Amino acid sequence: MPVLEGKELRIVAFLCNWCSYGGADTAGVARATQPTDLRIIRVPCSGRIDPLFILRALLNGADGVLVSGCHPNDCHYSAGNFYARRRLEILKRFLPVLGIDEQRFEYTWVSASEGARWQQVVTNFTARIHKLGPAPRLEDAEPLLEIANMALTPLRPLGTGRKAPLDELKSAIKAALPELDVVIGWQQGYDAAHTIPLFMRTEEDVDRLVWGPFNVSNPATYVNGLIGRAVPVDKVKKIGVVVKGCDSRSIVEMLQEKLIDRDKIVIFALPCEGTFDMARVDQELGRYSKIDSVEYDEAGVTITADGKARRICITDCAQGKCYNCAMPLARTADTSFGEAPAITGTPVTPPELAMLDAMTLSQRLSFWKGEMERCLRCYACRNACPLCVCRDHCIAETREPHFISQEGTTREKIFFQYIHATHLAGRCTGCGECQRACPVGIPILAMRQQIARAVSEVFDGYKSGMEAETVPPLLGYLVNENNIKQREI
Ligand code: FES
Repeated sequence: MPVLEGKELRIVAFLCNWCSYGGADTAGVARATQPTDLRIIRVPCSGRIDPLFILRALLNGADGVLVSGCHPNDCHYSAGNFYARRRLEILKRFLPVLGIDEQRFEYTWVSASEGARWQQVVTNFTARIHKLGPAPRLEDAEPLLEIANMALTPLRPLGTGRKAPLDELKSAIKAALPELDVVIGWQQGYDAAHTIPLFMRTEEDVDRLVWGPFNVSNPATYVNGLIGRAVPVDKVKKIGVVVKGCDSRSIVEMLQEKLIDRDKIVIFALPCEGTFDMARVDQELGRYSKIDSVEYDEAGVTITADGKARRICITDCAQGKCYNCAMPLARTADTSFGEAPAITGTPVTPPELAMLDAMTLSQRLSFWKGEMERCLRCYACRNACPLCVCRDHCIAETREPHFISQEGTTREKIFFQYIHATHLAGRCTGCGECQRACPVGIPILAMRQQIARAVSEVFDGYKSGMEAETVPPLLGYLVNENNIKQREI
């Protein structure tokens, strides 16, 4: 019998088999009155609950989701609930950026003997969801398109890297080449305003290396494919990679996760003065068919396209991440030249995230609906991500488990982004390759930035890709967490 008035809502509960499911059973045997809105899914342990179960339920129309497991220290698999606690806390803080009220999701602990506590938890949580009412449906949201304000002040002067000691770097790479299979860097692409990856194996290749604001991509993306754990041992060689400061954090994160061995990689670095957001550069240039030339000065470039010259200042058209960058030189490098400039400013909220912060929950839902309707589901965001390392086993394409369909609906496209973002929890270094690679310019970096902010809040300012020896937070736990407190339901 429902104890709450009004229409029954849809609440999904994931209960650990050993404690909370037993607690619900105990309440039932004791004939304790409970609301009937709950749909229980029994799982072996709270550690088995992937945050994607919860996101899938919410996206598919659940009005609330409850997770309950054994009390801390009582997990029948020793530490499943400790790992779950970290994941679920980050998920709870991630939901608002998607336009989902975090009150609609809760996790708690109930033992098999606590029938009365289970009755209280389920009654209170159901009452909370009834107070919130039915969850807003993605299908009902009006698409909203908004653009982040990119008028930002950088933490240090941006420039075009003309004074960077590129010749010294080239000499160092040439000297190291006999020891290395390949060195990854950048070369001019189809015109002087675009670069493409360069794989240097000979001295002539090294001469093609370029440095400057058009080195927009992250060469760390190729590292795992060349020397990662999945590469057959007989094919594993030693490689070199040229990095900007932000790129170096991806390498450090791979070392943290033991995806690569430090002795298999040689890192070369120069100080970075910022890189262009090519979408903004194209906007400045307007319609053109051919870039004739690019001339550099200290603070920008003059691009001549179809015979018409246009000067573009790096401070006006840098990638969003460059304004907040306090790491112009690599976090770790075997060979680096040049001095990093002094950081004088204070970091601010990244522009895409600041835009979402200023919105209401329903506006955020509308925003993602509007943006994701444009998604082509081309997976460029995934393929460009240096830390998306499951490639051949990507959950987005496997049939086992079949988490996501291949339908081209907005819901499935959004769910793919949820998957990508949650898989990067505590791992994303904010290099922005996902967003840069997106052919339709969806600001998907904001989801990763929100997760990074949640990780920083929960784990005492933790930033991924900083120390090679540090265990990423979601790969570990503390019995007594500093910033995760049990919430009473
Ligand atoms: Fe219950 Fe692990 S067995 S939470």
